[in-house]
Amino acid sequence: MQALGIDIGGTGIKVAKVESDTGELVGERVRFKTPTPSTPGRVVKVVSQAVRLLDWKGERAGCGFPGVVRQGVVFTAANVSKKWIGVPVNELLGETTGSEVVVANDADLAGLAEMRVGAGRGQTRGVVLMLTFGTGIGTALFNDGVLVPNCELGHIEIRGKDAETWASERVRVEQGLSYVKWARRVNLYVQRMHAYFWPDLIIFGGGVSKKFDAYAAHLSAPCPIVPAALRNRAGVVGAAIAAAEGLEV
Ligand code: BGC
Repeated sequence: MQALGIDIGGTGIKVAKVESDTGELVGERVRFKTPTPSTPGRVVKVVSQAVRLLDWKGERAGCGFPGVVRQGVVFTAANVSKKWIGVPVNELLGETTGSEVVVANDADLAGLAEMRVGAGRGQTRGVVLMLTFGTGIGTALFNDGVLVPNCELGHIEIRGKDAETWASERVRVEQGLSYVKWARRVNLYVQRMHAYFWPDLIIFGGGVSKKFDAYAAHLSAPCPIVPAALRNRAGVVGAAIAAAEGLEV
């Protein structure tokens, strides 16, 4: 079925119509900069602009949000306005889109897309860990293909710091780190993740998945590490798949 995928990030907001069975985008994907401050009112304005641009009239929409989301309500907001905490995003975006809206953590939805139509397709047994590197570090954990929602593993402490303040893509850019220097940090993070979860597969997502070849040789873990097949479309595709499947978190 066709569903609207919305991906709210700390830096950008992406929206597209998606064929949820295949993960193919229907027409163009629109991208806006996340407004500053990224308050609910300002972000909703951007989403409604996208809805108009795409002439969206369908029944189901999904939205990835960069924080803990339970039953449609936001519980944490590390990289967007704290005014989101307590907001029922499903209801808010229901009004904006005219659709029934499923909302979940952004990395969880990017992971869902990879599991259904991307690099994790067919991994119906064992543990898969999806990592997204962007403004923060997002993580999604699957066991036998089933999502364990809201694993906030981007905030583990590493070298006395919140991991995402040391190894996210934003930090790489802000500190002018080469991919190789950044990958040395990320590799410590990956090895820690491996020691905790012993995954069968690690998927690298977010904008950095496009540059995977530039740093892959500097990553090592006792399991395969592969780039996201959907690259940075995974967020919108996963949001649409969650909507079509009626995901509940
Ligand atoms: C948030 C996560 C989110 C990740 C990627 C982190 O700061 O706590 O919920 O998935 O950033 O956006």
